[in-house]
Amino acid sequence: MFTRLLGNRLKNAAGDKKEEKKLMKQLDMNMLPEHIAIIMDGNGRWATKKGMPRSFGHRAGVNALREVVKLCVELGIKYLTVYAFSTENWKRPRDEINMLMELLVEYLNKEIEELCANNVKINPMGIISELPPQAQEAVTMAVQRTKGNTGMVFNVALNYGGRAELVQAVRRIGEKIQRGELQVEDVDETVVNNHLYTAGQPDPDLLIRPSGDYRISNFLLWQLAYTEFWLTSTMWPDFGRIDLLKALLDFQGRERRFGGLVHN
Ligand code: FPP
Repeated sequence: MFTRLLGNRLKNAAGDKKEEKKLMKQLDMNMLPEHIAIIMDGNGRWATKKGMPRSFGHRAGVNALREVVKLCVELGIKYLTVYAFSTENWKRPRDEINMLMELLVEYLNKEIEELCANNVKINPMGIISELPPQAQEAVTMAVQRTKGNTGMVFNVALNYGGRAELVQAVRRIGEKIQRGELQVEDVDETVVNNHLYTAGQPDPDLLIRPSGDYRISNFLLWQLAYTEFWLTSTMWPDFGRIDLLKALLDFQGRERRFGGLVHN
């Protein structure tokens, strides 16, 4: 029984490697998105379906994240943004919130060496000062340790909401106007952009949402204006290298017009 199970597993892994290789061959390395955003959804449902606690799903979600970060680095993606905890997630049971915060601390502490070795720079997005002290410490450590890195920028949205981000930007712009540092007529899209957590970054080219839901869920409301969406029913813990490659290939077949016309 055990030997058969192991045999099947090895066979599946070999099949996956073969498919990955095939997809990789089809990929145009000159047409990759500069910026990928991901709503890591479906951890809870994935676990419940297996008769396991939701925490099991979040833990599996971290493994999926690790794989995706690795592949993005390998491909030379410049910006990766992931939605790890939203301003609305505080409505969840205290135990689940604590567990997510512990996972965050564990992830950052465990992965920091690898992230540094891969030249990844961590940019937290959200109101970090409202996180539990240990989570704040881990985030500060990760920012400090990676601040000199020049490779992929890894935006981690924590206690993040698109509306809260815009409110904060409006307030900061208003304060500058009050102090006479900025004129009302000078407020344009660039000024707004410069007051977001993604200041200086290109907008996401591709948004990936697993788990079969078709929602933005208060994520990057300004930045997603012309982003291509790729949705899949696969739950986040099952999302792997093959899924990311499929999303990238699909993206490469899209015609992006940004509201204009494409001339042949
Ligand atoms: C959504 O699944 C996922 C979250 C609210 C958290 C995402 C977090 C992780 C993948 C792990 C922690 C992140 C880091 C950076 C360590 P859900 O719980 O809403 O799933 P459901 O919709 O099936 O209930």
